[in-house]
Amino acid sequence: MLFQIPKGLYDILPYEVDQEWKLSHYWQYLETVIRKTALDFGFKEIRTPTFERTEVFNRGLGEATDIVSKEMYTFLDKAKRSMTLRPEGTAPVMRSFIENRLYNARKINKFFYIASMFRYERPQSGRYRQHHQFGVEAIGNPSFEQDAEVIDLLYELYSRLNISNLTVNLNCIGNITTREVYKKDLTKYLEKYLKEMSEESKIRLAKNPLRILDSKEEEDQEIIKSAPSILDYLNDDEKNHFNNLCDLLKSINIPFIINDKLVRGIDYYTKTVFEITSSDLGSQNALGGGGRYDHLLSQLKGPDLPGMGFGTGLERILQTMIKQDIVIPDNSKPFVYFVPLTSHAKKIAFNLITQLRRKEIPCDIDLNAKKINQSIKNANLLQASHILIIGEDELQTKQAQLKNMISREQTTIEFDKIITYITNLWRDYEKV
Ligand code: HAM
Repeated sequence: MLFQIPKGLYDILPYEVDQEWKLSHYWQYLETVIRKTALDFGFKEIRTPTFERTEVFNRGLGEATDIVSKEMYTFLDKAKRSMTLRPEGTAPVMRSFIENRLYNARKINKFFYIASMFRYERPQSGRYRQHHQFGVEAIGNPSFEQDAEVIDLLYELYSRLNISNLTVNLNCIGNITTREVYKKDLTKYLEKYLKEMSEESKIRLAKNPLRILDSKEEEDQEIIKSAPSILDYLNDDEKNHFNNLCDLLKSINIPFIINDKLVRGIDYYTKTVFEITSSDLGSQNALGGGGRYDHLLSQLKGPDLPGMGFGTGLERILQTMIKQDIVIPDNSKPFVYFVPLTSHAKKIAFNLITQLRRKEIPCDIDLNAKKINQSIKNANLLQASHILIIGEDELQTKQAQLKNMISREQTTIEFDKIITYITNLWRDYEKV
């Protein structure tokens, strides 16, 4: 084969896929539910370019993070400026928010996006080098209620998709000063176990000790278990924020667990962090996650405004839905598949199908129809609900044959009654 897709990437196709989640109508359905949910919560769509100046991510995410230090697709453009394919959505949204001065007209700005992200990671199940995220960013409100709204939105999305068996992990990682004190104590504690630690954690100890708490390596588990808890280091404001958030989530019936080992992999977070995991995913079990970032905008030389958001992977959502046998509707099936068997029949069929399409009834036509059996095969492949046959006999009698592909029932309809007949059938079908 001359060309092959790069490692860690995949195609989304209408059929013939090796894994069900790559079916394009699943993506269409998911994106429709996402848009509706985001709009229902008052979030407005924002679209930023696929790549940005590299600085946006270096400054935004933190140089020591895995994303910045190892995973970015960075290249020089023809004028030798460093550009990076976006590895995540928050930093670009902040860049756009600052550049377009979106803070001028409104005190609170709530954005959402559905976009592809690029990370040079080791490909494995649930981890790709291009993945798709639905993300939200709520800017301007420092309160715990804002955190609850964002968490509730993600939880509501999963509920609308009928996903179950989820765990909401919640933690508070404080502000930069709180974290610095904690980091010192944590490092002191971890240094005692340097010999027993995994190789990866040894490297992290100097660069980013908090990330060790996230380690999945077996030899680290016992060490992590008894590590000091960030929750013991919070100041009064952080404690109140966290307790109030927990109370509010309880009162709106969002089940959660407090997980003081949850730190997340990006440096911009302050106070609240959360992750929703699914037991139906493998080792990459995070369906979505996010948190508060109260200093990111000022760090990027924007206004001093707080933010809160999340990102959730579309691949992982679909994989979970399939694992849970959730039925995903297909809106791409034709309601009527026209089979005109002569060129005169084609002319009539073309006229009829145009009228039905103007009424927004999904229809298709076999423009190569020669033998009825082949056309029936095509209709079955498309999962058409009905086929409408016009051949020599039908042209003589000016009546077409409408066949219901499920009940196998066949009806004869006069040409000039076809539009009304099919329109009524469609109305009844839509009501069900
Ligand atoms: P993140 O946790 O890096 O957060 O990514 C969010 C979600 O994207 C993950 O929970 C996962 O579902 C999905 N994901 C990440 N990497 C991959 C991958 N390589 N393959 C497949 N899916 C993946 C962020 O990106 C933050 N920007 C979220 C945020 C928004 N925080 C505040 N606002």
